Amino acid sequence: MESVIVAIDGPSGTGKSSTSKAVAAKLGLSYLDTGAQYRAITWWMISNGVDVHDADAVANAAGKPVIVSGTDPARPTITVDGADAAGPIRTEEVTSKVSAVSAVPEVRALITELQRTIAKDAEHGIVVEGRDIGTTVLPDADLKIFLTASPEARAARRSGELKGVDVHATKEALIKRDAADSSRKTSPLAKAGDAVEVDTTELTLDQVIECVVTLVDEKRTAA
Ligand code: DC
Repeated sequence: MESVIVAIDGPSGTGKSSTSKAVAAKLGLSYLDTGAQYRAITWWMISNGVDVHDADAVANAAGKPVIVSGTDPARPTITVDGADAAGPIRTEEVTSKVSAVSAVPEVRALITELQRTIAKDAEHGIVVEGRDIGTTVLPDADLKIFLTASPEARAARRSGELKGVDVHATKEALIKRDAADSSRKTSPLAKAGDAVEVDTTELTLDQVIECVVTLVDEKRTAA
């Protein structure tokens, strides 16, 4: 298999981003963080005074921002209308509003189209991480992984990343966001029927990376 497409889905705090970037770097593949794209469009909505809880307003504005993702796993970038959005998309405000924006079907249609184009153009293949990659965006991906972990492990990892943020509050926020992402009508967070589920609760990051690299190698050998 010359070029390989790997879909990595799962809720937040399962190690999706760290795993996806490392696997892409090890295998010489491109990397796409689809959550960053939903965060970027949310940041644009907030910056432009769009009420994120007004689905019609969000749908009408969805086509306005130009979102560009850089796919080098060593230095992934994201810009909105040419401005670097890497910092602003990680704020608490964006995190609390991204589920509402990403539930709007017009937003999903536009971002999904963008993701498919990026995956198609990746010369040596790509690792795409998100919530609906295996089910909706790239249903023909060569390998689909679904990462899980206990809510406690996920909250501990997230509060470690955010340094000093209360674990209990983080756990509550994660559970709320997962519930919203899993229950929305359009392409919710879900495991594809043909995805390999990896529970990362008791695994180190290196073990998860090794597990996914082995699965990709097995696919390539079998092809
Ligand atoms: O991976 P993340 O936490 O940066 O994702 C932010 C949000 O974007 C997440 O709460 C749901 C949404 N998202 C989505 O709806 N579909 C994707 N493929 C990726 C993310």
